[in-house]
Amino acid sequence: MTAERPPLVLAVSGASAQPLAERALKWLLDADETVDLVTSRGAMAVWQAELGLRLPGEPDAQERFWRERTGSQGGLLRIHRWNDQAASIASGSYRTRGMVILPASMGCVGRIAAGVATDLLERAADVHLKEARPLVICPRETPWNLIHLRNLTRLAEAGARIAPPVPAWYHQPQTIEDMVDFLVVRIFDVLGDELAPLNRWSGPR
Ligand SMILES: Cc1cc2nc3c(=O)[nH]c(=O)nc-3n(C[C@H](O)[C@H](O)[C@H](O)COP(=O)(O)O)c2cc1C
Repeated sequence: MTAERPPLVLAVSGASAQPLAERALKWLLDADETVDLVTSRGAMAVWQAELGLRLPGEPDAQERFWRERTGSQGGLLRIHRWNDQAASIASGSYRTRGMVILPASMGCVGRIAAGVATDLLERAADVHLKEARPLVICPRETPWNLIHLRNLTRLAEAGARIAPPVPAWYHQPQTIEDMVDFLVVRIFDVLGDELAPLNRWSGPR
């Protein structure tokens, strides 16, 4: 079965919590989605630090890497180089149904808020804002200083949805994977997508 919906841009920047991006990619491919994936240079350094693995920069090698890591052969996966400002997703004429930055570093938040696109991730975010398409930003930092808060406010004013990956306990997670799934599924709720089954709150038992 091939994906029919317009593609979704999944952008991974150099904040902590890279496993959230990996989980999101797995759910999207398992759901047979078309995914345009862009990983910033900073994210590659965090991959090395958090998972002890080198994330390949070359698109074919990276696709093989993700297919193996996620164990998913579904959907369509298009990998873009971090600095390829001529990629499809750098143009507003390339139609998508939205973009999720998961996780979002304070660096990319600041640059997108300032309208400065130093790499493809930031350019694609700028395009989503100018085209008034859904842009979900998942900032990962703590604590937030006033500059972070102002940048996030500015992005919210420009139309972005701010969805920090904040855990909850009301779904009674038993494992880290339960917690990761909860965070990822709640982020995609913002786009109106039911990414995966979730033990949702339906009132006290
Ligand atoms: C292991 C590691 C964890 C990091 N975690 C965060 C983080 O949670 N939030 C953040 O804003 N920056 C974090 N950083 C710093 C960013 O990676 C750094 O500012 C980088 O330049 C961001 O690049 P990017 O915005 O192009 O992805 C981390 C760096 C490393 C090496």
